Amino acid sequence: MPLKSVSDLFIHELSDTYSAEKQMTRSLPKLAKAATNPDLASAFETHLEETRGQVERLEQVAEACGVKLKRVKCAGMEGLVEETMSLVDEIEPGAVLDAALIGSAQKAEHYEIATYTSLCLLAKKLGYGEALPLLTATLEEEQATDAKLGVLAEAAQIEEATQA
Ligand SMILES: [Fe+2]
Ligand SMILES: [Fe+2]
Repeated sequence: MPLKSVSDLFIHELSDTYSAEKQMTRSLPKLAKAATNPDLASAFETHLEETRGQVERLEQVAEACGVKLKRVKCAGMEGLVEETMSLVDEIEPGAVLDAALIGSAQKAEHYEIATYTSLCLLAKKLGYGEALPLLTATLEEEQATDAKLGVLAEAAQIEEATQA
C-alpha cells in the first residue's frame, strides 16, 4: 500500500519500530550471554526487560491511535543485529568482545533514539495525545540505556593488543 499521508507514514514507522523492538528481544539475550563483564551482561538483561515492555507499549500506542500495526521487517535493525552477531562469531570472549558489544549496542540505541524522536514528532503533529507520553517514555529508556553503555565503555578495561 503506498504511503500517501503523514498518518500512513506514522503507521509505517510504528510497524517498523515494532519489528525492530521484537528483533532486539531476540538479540539482547545473545549479547548478555556473550558479555564477560557482569555489569555489561546485567545492563543487557535489564534492557531486555525494558524492551519487552516497549513492545507492549507500541501495541498500546497503536490501540490509542486506533491504527493497526502492519507486518513489516525493520531492515535497519536487521543489519545492525547481523553486524553484531558477526562480531560475536569473530572475537573471543573478553575485553575486546565486550568493547565491540558496547559499541554495537550503542549503534542500536542511537538508531532507536532517532526512531522514537521522529515518532514523537509525528504523534505530536497528528494530535495523538495519548500516544505521545508512551512514545516519550520509551525514548527516555533508550537514552538512559545509551548513557549507561557510555559509562561502561569509559570504565572498560581495554588492553592494548601487543604485537608479537
Ligand atoms: Fe527499544
Ligand atoms: Fe533499546
